[in-house]
Amino acid sequence: MEFPELTASRGPGGAKDCLVVFTGRDRRGEVLFHADRPAVEAKVRSLVKSGEYTGKENATLVLHQLDGWEKIIVAGLPENKAAFPGETLRRLGAQLAPLVERSPAVALDLLAAPEISKSCGVPIETCLRCLAEGLLLKAYRFNKYKKAKSDDNERRRLKRVSFLSASGKAAQILAETATICEGTALARDLVNEPSNVLNAVTLAARAKALGLESGFKVTVFDKKKIEQLGMGGLLAVNRGSAVPPRLIIGEHRPKGARKTVLLVGKGLTFDTGGVSIKPAAGMGEMKCDMAGSAAVLGALFVAARLKLPVNVIGVIPATDNKTGSNAQNPGDIITLMNGTTVEVDNTDAEGRLVLGDALHYGITRFEPDLTIDLATLTGACVVALGQWAAGLLTNDEAAKAALMRAGDATHERVWPLPMYDEYAEQLKSHPADVKNVGGRAAGAITAAKFLEKFVSGKPWAHLDIAGPAFLDGPSHYLPKEGTGYGVRLLTEFLKAF
Ligand code: BES
Ligand code: MN
Ligand code: ZN
Repeated sequence: MEFPELTASRGPGGAKDCLVVFTGRDRRGEVLFHADRPAVEAKVRSLVKSGEYTGKENATLVLHQLDGWEKIIVAGLPENKAAFPGETLRRLGAQLAPLVERSPAVALDLLAAPEISKSCGVPIETCLRCLAEGLLLKAYRFNKYKKAKSDDNERRRLKRVSFLSASGKAAQILAETATICEGTALARDLVNEPSNVLNAVTLAARAKALGLESGFKVTVFDKKKIEQLGMGGLLAVNRGSAVPPRLIIGEHRPKGARKTVLLVGKGLTFDTGGVSIKPAAGMGEMKCDMAGSAAVLGALFVAARLKLPVNVIGVIPATDNKTGSNAQNPGDIITLMNGTTVEVDNTDAEGRLVLGDALHYGITRFEPDLTIDLATLTGACVVALGQWAAGLLTNDEAAKAALMRAGDATHERVWPLPMYDEYAEQLKSHPADVKNVGGRAAGAITAAKFLEKFVSGKPWAHLDIAGPAFLDGPSHYLPKEGTGYGVRLLTEFLKAF
């Protein structure tokens, strides 16, 4: 995707293509006009009188050829008492995107900062950040497989947006927001890419290219190296595949950083279920089973570009889960890298097998202060929480609080599930140390209890993103299919770590 260019300026430049002005409402519901543009204000006042513009939260009005502008859009800000004002602003940004996309240059007038900030109850910097985020995330397209010149491909493309603001931080905020949205877009692209294009080998190649482009180091282990390390989980899952596995390692190590966060991302480029095969209906969705790895690569990209002052290490076990003649069978007993033997009762519970190896490798090799894994791990988590929160399972209270804070700030929300030891009993195996499935009850929790056996008691949080990573229809600034979930959450978390 060609990325729109965002700029900050203190006044309107020469271009008179498209202007966005904002309104609020006072306690009595009177519309407040938040721009110093008398001609526009007069027109809006008359439309308020006639009832054509309410100025309510997220109301919009499109005016043509007024005050020297080709197009003027009037937009209603969220009300001061909104529960998630930042999210309301993102959604307003998303609402503006299709209205401004055909204009060569767009200007958003946020010069009346005190009034605007008072109207929606957040600092003007938050307004800038969230409006820009909504606009950019909504402008995303995955159209590389569509023939050129279709409506979505060509005519509707956000190109240049300038934010009129006197805030000294405006330029920096917009640059940062653009980078975060670019990281989200590249995670979406990876998830949306079908499995005939994206496999373990091509995912590793994309990781290398991203590292070069943004400045983080990428190392890729091939099958021989994975065998030498004894990653029996990754190798067992890969047995049914025609494509060899890869272990992808990304390292962002800024000078002077004192802390290290390890991010582990499930990189199943397709999950058929293996011999315990999934039903046909909806199986195509399983191209999303590498969304955890996409979030990790997106976060590494952002961390490198923004030079976040913390070491960020990404470890991605990559393979698909297929049914080739050499595929593992239910009942097989395998040995993971840390020596734990696993009875594979269901080959569709493959994520925990590859993650067990990746967690053990990452934690022993890099000795991080905290490990976070992201995985489209269980349908059970979707049953429990649906699409609007990831499951959070952790042995670390501080990480839990910080992830929930980051989730609320970005609206990539996480919700805790318990890790009581009793749940581990469901994983007891007769012939081996542990079984890879724990029955129908509490499937998201037993999956996390399995992973816990590979973190050596070290601080760790598991995010089950099976719900929010992939949508069956668009919602506000989120597109159908890959959402890029996790990139904004992790960036916010890393900024505060
Ligand atoms: N990749 C799936 C989980 C999934 C489900 C992701 C829905 C996205 C949307 C995972 O590998 C899986 O198949 N899990 C099984 C586990 C079961 C066999 C214990 C599941 O959830 O059914
Ligand atoms: Mn599976
Ligand atoms: Zn899977």
